[in-house]
Amino acid sequence: MERTLVLIKPDAIEKRISGLILDRLDHLGLQMTGAKVVSLTEELARAHYKNLEGKPFLDEVIQYMMGEFNNVPNHKIYAFVFQGENAIAKIRQEIGSTNPEKAAPWTIRGSFGRFIGDVMQNCVHASGSPEDAEKEIALWFKPEEVLDR
Ligand code: TYD
Repeated sequence: MERTLVLIKPDAIEKRISGLILDRLDHLGLQMTGAKVVSLTEELARAHYKNLEGKPFLDEVIQYMMGEFNNVPNHKIYAFVFQGENAIAKIRQEIGSTNPEKAAPWTIRGSFGRFIGDVMQNCVHASGSPEDAEKEIALWFKPEEVLDR
């Protein structure tokens, strides 16, 4: 059964749309098997975005994830594991393209994302492949924090 990591990012926390985002994801019919509030460290942020190493916008993305642009205390991020058939594709489709200006208007990023300077404040992260999902879940959750179904 496929698993995926979902993060609600600081812009969505500031906008108070985390409930709305979870409502949209709930309708996909997957199981939520892990959920927590995380105080993000720069080390975890950099490990999570290791694939962006060398990109000119990486430092700003890290600052954004740490809550520096959104007045969010304690470097707060909401983290979830969802499980189910085609969980990765279903959630990626619902959240929309990385760039909120190009994301379909009815998606989460298309509805609520913004481009501020060079940083896409796109409200939510979801794993892009089964390999990424397993790596990311291991970074954000201890095994005992995730249910098996
Ligand atoms: P990426 O892993 O390419 O996309 P996704 O989140 O859709 O899997 O990029 C990670 C984050 O980096 C992305 O959510 C927003 C930010 N980003 C920028 O700010 N500018 C950019 O040009 C790109 C490609 C990403």
